[in-house]
Amino acid sequence: MAFGYPHMSFIGYPVPLPCAGHSGLGLRAAVDSDSPAVLDHLRRLSAEDRRMRFCATMGAAALERHVERIGSRGGVVLLAFDGPLFETPFFRTGPVRAVAELVGTGREMELGISVDSGLRRNGIATELVETAAHVLAPRGVRIIRAYTLPGNRSFLTMASRCGAAVEAGRDEVEVTFDVGTLRRSYLRRRAGNAFLLGK
Ligand SMILES: CC(C)(COP(=O)(O)OP(=O)(O)OC[C@H]1O[C@@H](n2cnc3c(N)ncnc32)[C@H](O)[C@@H]1OP(=O)(O)O)[C@@H](O)C(=O)NCCC(=O)NCCS
Repeated sequence: MAFGYPHMSFIGYPVPLPCAGHSGLGLRAAVDSDSPAVLDHLRRLSAEDRRMRFCATMGAAALERHVERIGSRGGVVLLAFDGPLFETPFFRTGPVRAVAELVGTGREMELGISVDSGLRRNGIATELVETAAHVLAPRGVRIIRAYTLPGNRSFLTMASRCGAAVEAGRDEVEVTFDVGTLRRSYLRRRAGNAFLLGK
């Protein structure tokens, strides 16, 4: 099932090629066959970004273990594609430019998110988190929690702008997003887009 933008870019087919930064990414939930494209995205993150994302040092083997069977571990994994969303005989999917992983059960889920460094500050992380809230709210999820290391200015500013509560510990920072607030922003944005497209 596809979420998010109505316009996806087909850059460089049949093999996806890197393209200039823009916000025309296609969003959808991950399936197992996306693992190589997700791994490529995580490998492109700097060592510092990986520490901020996982609150740990992640080498090549650890990243590989992390993405194995990414679509079937439970929870929700949203991917932002800069190219074909679905595999066909002529198109390969990807590349994946951003990943939001949400794991957990019940009213709370834990978020891990990353965006390709060249595409940051285009609102992609915000859009992914809001879209995740829209998908999760009907399942009874009320809180999305995330953990990062102190000094992660990008994430903490982005989270504050989404109305999240930030609690700084000595070794870790806990960020609590309210799903209702995120979902309202999602719906406002979609209504705004529909208005603009209808003009
Ligand atoms: C944190 C991260 C996901 C943010 O992704 P992003 O797509 O750039 O975030 P957004 O564009 O939605 O940011 C929204 C707002 O947050 C703030 N922000 C984001 N990055 C910022 C930065 N480097 N410096 C200051 N403010 C920043 C800005 O206010 C921005 O809006 P603006 O550009 O209109 O001012 C990205 O930097 C990343 O992948 N970091 C490495 C992994 C990580 O730290 N993950 C988080 C812990 S799980």
